[in-house]
Amino acid sequence: MTAYDGYGAIARVYDKLNAELDYGAWADFFEACFDRFLPTRPVLLLDLACGTGKMTLELARRGYDMIGADGSEEMLCEAMLASDLDEELEKRPLFILQDMRAFELYGTVGAVSCCLDSLNYLTGNGDLDACFACVHNYLDPDGLFLFDMNTPYRFREVYGDRAYVLEDEMEDEQGNKKEIYCGWQNAYDSQTKLCQFYLSLFEQNADGSFTRADEVQTERCYEFSEIKAALDRAGFEFLGVWANFDFAAPEENTERWYFAARAKKNT
Ligand SMILES: C[S@@+](CC[C@H](N)C(=O)[O-])C[C@H]1O[C@@H](n2cnc3c(N)ncnc32)[C@H](O)[C@@H]1O
Repeated sequence: MTAYDGYGAIARVYDKLNAELDYGAWADFFEACFDRFLPTRPVLLLDLACGTGKMTLELARRGYDMIGADGSEEMLCEAMLASDLDEELEKRPLFILQDMRAFELYGTVGAVSCCLDSLNYLTGNGDLDACFACVHNYLDPDGLFLFDMNTPYRFREVYGDRAYVLEDEMEDEQGNKKEIYCGWQNAYDSQTKLCQFYLSLFEQNADGSFTRADEVQTERCYEFSEIKAALDRAGFEFLGVWANFDFAAPEENTERWYFAARAKKNT
């Protein structure tokens, strides 16, 4: 059963809308973290909230055994399709439909990644604790947890109450070009720390008309101290937080924090 339904219609165009993201550079950063914080490179990895599988497939192409987990059937369908079409892959990832607050794996993994503010989608009290406890449970002793989160600065100063329109083109099933527009209105409430994203997607049909689909997503703004305390409670050793893939220290106007934490276990 779907655990997250905020990525229904948007799943088909998600990669187009995020085309500027450099998952190669992001995976280089993960591998630099493996070199820095693990005695040997991990073999089996979990990409949590994998979405359309951009990072899952990037790491699979680098030779890691990959599990991709997500709560949206639509996003996982896109991931599986991309995996089937990827000729560079020697070993296809295992994709599973799981809620990141209560997921189950067959065994432990050497590292867990969770990319692109997926953890900000945990909006309920206790959700972050539940997710971190699961991640800790399924990590090998001293296994690595690599994740990012949007900063309070981004919620306040960048998202705020702004609206955006993204325009692009893609091919339909017959290979014909079609236009897509995604309107995106934000509403950030500094009291509740919740940010609503009202998304309207317009996809061109073969006859030139457009079909509209609407979706509402919610992200929660977490303070650094809340994230750090949740890691402590789950049994993680906090290894660092950075502003970019060069391990630069975060500043006042940093929009995304990149975290590394190690699962401490009594073995
Ligand atoms: C911004 S997307 C990021 C996807 C992917 N990590 C990437 O880098 O493109 C957030 C993802 O979190 C997933 N998600 C949100 N809440 C979830 C939950 N409770 N359990 C599992 N996945 C969830 C969504 O389905 C979506 O695929």
